Amino acid sequence: MDIGFQDKCVFVTGGSRGIGKTICETFKTMGAKVIAPGRDEMDLSEPESVERYIKGHEEIVPDIFVHCAGMNKLASIEEVTDDVINTVFQVNFFSAVKLCTAFAKGMKENGCGKIVFVSSLYATVTREQRIPYTSSKNALTGLMKTLALELAPYGTMVNAVAPGYVMTDMTKKNLSQDDIKEISANIPTGRFQEEQEIADLIAFLCSDHNKSITGQLISVDGGFLCR
Ligand SMILES: NC(=O)c1ccc[n+]([C@@H]2O[C@H](COP(=O)([O-])OP(=O)(O)OC[C@H]3O[C@@H](n4cnc5c(N)ncnc54)[C@H](OP(=O)(O)O)[C@@H]3O)[C@@H](O)[C@H]2O)c1
Repeated sequence: MDIGFQDKCVFVTGGSRGIGKTICETFKTMGAKVIAPGRDEMDLSEPESVERYIKGHEEIVPDIFVHCAGMNKLASIEEVTDDVINTVFQVNFFSAVKLCTAFAKGMKENGCGKIVFVSSLYATVTREQRIPYTSSKNALTGLMKTLALELAPYGTMVNAVAPGYVMTDMTKKNLSQDDIKEISANIPTGRFQEEQEIADLIAFLCSDHNKSITGQLISVDGGFLCR
């Protein structure tokens, strides 16, 4: 199967590091023009910053939008504050709503388009202290499914990809060595996922070969959720 993105413009959030960086490199290798603004250009935790970026770049009409940026601030029910929940929702969810609003019009007019949200296993299961993160990823599933319905008549496919466990900065920050040992023992394939495995699925979902997969939350987790 030939997957090429010549003449396609891909807009990626969270492209500076981790999974998002590999997504950008993958699209570039396959011939796409990639736009991936850094935090200095668009701080996703600040609604005004996102609005300012959109207003200042009305010429950008991407064929493909991948929302990969994410943050996980641990907080239990005793620890959670408005501040924490607002910031996590701003980055993981509200910025995606704003960018989809900005891009959907052009995608509808062009009669095509692909949108992928990088979600998490925590949109399906969770761990203690994941109240902000899990809630925001569940909200993203609602957005993804509703958008899939609204944009399907225009040929736009909207999906979410849920990585299992990938050894990025986020994982290193939020999991102890004991957590990592325990989780690894519960992954049926016996290992964490690689960034490239996530990027490859996203490339397929965003390719011209995908004309029917929409409204799906697809896990890349080595079978973790089967247990
Ligand atoms: N790693 C995993 O095991 C795993 C598992 C499931 C889901 N995920 C999801 O995968 C996605 C990528 O995670 P990762 O592991 O690659 O994380 P990461 O290495 O921590 O990278 C996070 C990315 O999000 C960007 N970002 C965070 N806050 C931002 C803000 N306020 N404004 C602009 N950009 C911001 C970061 O930009 P800066 O460089 O400027 O900080 C960075 O590019 C996230 O949505 C995460 O929830 C990861």
